[in-house]
Amino acid sequence: MIEIRDLTKVYKLNKKQMKESRTTNPRKTAVDHLSLTARPGEIYGLLGPNGAGKTTTLRCISTIIRPTQGEIYVSGHEVQKEPEKVREKIGFLTGDIKLDPQFSVDYMFEFFGRLHQIPEEKLRARKEELFTYFGIKDFAHKKMKELSTGMGQKAAIAVCLAHDPDIIIFDEPTNGLDVITARSVTDYLKKLRTEGKLVIISTHIMSEAEKICDRIGIVIGGHKVMEGRLDEILQETGSEDLEDAFFELYRQTQGEE
Ligand SMILES: Nc1ncnc2c1ncn2[C@@H]1O[C@H](COP(=O)(O)OP(=O)(O)OP(=O)(O)O)[C@@H](O)[C@H]1O
Ligand SMILES: [Mg+2]
Repeated sequence: MIEIRDLTKVYKLNKKQMKESRTTNPRKTAVDHLSLTARPGEIYGLLGPNGAGKTTTLRCISTIIRPTQGEIYVSGHEVQKEPEKVREKIGFLTGDIKLDPQFSVDYMFEFFGRLHQIPEEKLRARKEELFTYFGIKDFAHKKMKELSTGMGQKAAIAVCLAHDPDIIIFDEPTNGLDVITARSVTDYLKKLRTEGKLVIISTHIMSEAEKICDRIGIVIGGHKVMEGRLDEILQETGSEDLEDAFFELYRQTQGEE
């Protein structure tokens, strides 16, 4: 289970960042008092526009960055108190952590597997399963830097699943993928759900959220503005589809400013 209680993340901006953001305020609140619970056997989707705070939230869960305020429990372990325990449980995929460009896919997979102390035989079986599923075998020997965007994404997915984690945290998992490859990734996430794993993703692709997420948390400007199953969100906003619901919620937040 993932339980986020009142998460706030404030970034301190340097002068360059302040200039780029055209602000004189050195503090940027990326996530603002956000709470959510995601459970085993479900795919939870964080849906929001660019800059909403999705990646920041997922990075806090994954112990990559520290929350400014609030608590996050992953399988009962608080991320700041027991980060190693949390890291054992999770597989984290994000576009902003690059696998080493000099090494081959094969090497990266084995390196991460050993880092997680997976016995050799089990690691070989995992590699066979994942490389076959994602069609990685053909380019497993290639260096990461030689791969296309899609190949790189598939390789990164396989690597972060090497240790067969119970909790899968994927930041925009289908980013840069063609429809066929994207489908193989979302199908795999559904397979993980049927195995009873907890999957949490971020996306701004409405159809993806509609199709695969059991529950959706809509995040705008660092706030979770709505949460529920698709039918609940449509009913509450009086919308035909998720895109309409999203625009309605977005319009409401703009009105408040
Ligand atoms: N390291 C950082 N330093 C300063 N500000 C940051 C940093 N990372 C993110 N931000 C800011 O925090 C806010 C939230 O960013 P975040 O990356 O979490 O959004 P997101 O929802 O993942 O957006 P996207 O859909 O574009 O990936 C943005 O305004 C962003 O500019
Ligand atoms: Mg992001």
